[in-house]
Amino acid sequence: MSRVYNFSAGPAVLPLEVLQNAQKELVDYKGCGMSVMEMSHRGKDYDAIHQEAIATFKELCGLGDDWSVCFIQGGASMQFAMIPMNFLGKGQKADYVKSGTWGGKAVKEAQKVAVLRGAEVNIAADCQKDIPTRQPNADEYKWTEGAAYSHICLNETISGAEMKEIPETGSPLIGDMSSDILSCERDYNKFSMFYAGAQKNLGPSGMAVVAIRKDFAAKGNELLPTMLQYRTYVDENSLYNTPPTWGIYIFGEVMKWVKSMGKENLFKLNAEKARKIYEVIDSTGFYRGTAVKEFRSNMNVTWRLPTEELEAQFVKEAAAAGMKSLKGHRSVGGIRASLYNAFPMEGVDRLVEFMKDFEKRNG
Ligand SMILES: Cc1ncc(COP(=O)(O)O)c(C=O)c1O
Repeated sequence: MSRVYNFSAGPAVLPLEVLQNAQKELVDYKGCGMSVMEMSHRGKDYDAIHQEAIATFKELCGLGDDWSVCFIQGGASMQFAMIPMNFLGKGQKADYVKSGTWGGKAVKEAQKVAVLRGAEVNIAADCQKDIPTRQPNADEYKWTEGAAYSHICLNETISGAEMKEIPETGSPLIGDMSSDILSCERDYNKFSMFYAGAQKNLGPSGMAVVAIRKDFAAKGNELLPTMLQYRTYVDENSLYNTPPTWGIYIFGEVMKWVKSMGKENLFKLNAEKARKIYEVIDSTGFYRGTAVKEFRSNMNVTWRLPTEELEAQFVKEAAAAGMKSLKGHRSVGGIRASLYNAFPMEGVDRLVEFMKDFEKRNG
């Protein structure tokens, strides 16, 4: 087998055990005589997969019966649109934090809906263009009293800046956790809704996993097309139409893997993986971290080298040594090592060695 260390930001590395088990079950799922991809989403075999995936995720996040977990196609980007469509009504205001590219994209979609509806988007804090990259400081937020909701992006995947504290916003809080869900200790009950594109810490691409309080979903606009209303997914348990069954199956397997690893153990490993790389970055002037230290992400470690030529050489040599996808996002350049839950410590150790050696040869 020749698996590389895959530092991709998403779709990203999945636990090897999950892939191997899926391979085993691919053509004949537990004696059903067919694969999960081929079975009816209304049958009892699929139903068990669906229910267990939801139950395991809820257990891991500490969510009670007042929460619903929905599988919605269109990725996290669809959520940027669905949130204001459902919850931003005429004459209302919604608070948004622009903390980077993704927070900014969420704002753009909300502003479109606001124009259509005669509503308003308030930018509660803006550090999208700041270099070094960061998340807002606690005293920068300007929340609106009586806002319909407030939206934050907890980990900016491109800039590598992560919110360490969940702000108290005074209105229903919605969190984009696409790149940090179940990666560190969080109080998920502080939210009215949180969501993640599945392709980083949860499973394959093709859907967002959306956790939403049932009473919050019930407040959504009832005139929207059925598939754009959260209540449809809540009321029908994401089975109003054909859901992305294969993605949900793998998501459930990844959740079982997280549970078997012990989430506290995983959280500790995540912090340690990132710490090892930041330590090399800080040890000399050759590498330069791109995020303000107190907001450094444990999931997406970003840094620069003295020149773009050296960065290109770094990426190329690393790939040749079995470490792939270290190139920073095309919009910002530099280097990015994405270290999601399934990324192994040995891959980090290999990168640390490589970084030290590369600096010796080129510093
Ligand atoms: C924080 C964050 N939000 C949203 C998105 C968009 O996700 P999708 O590609 O699933 O629409 C991404 C993608 O990388 C992301 O990192």
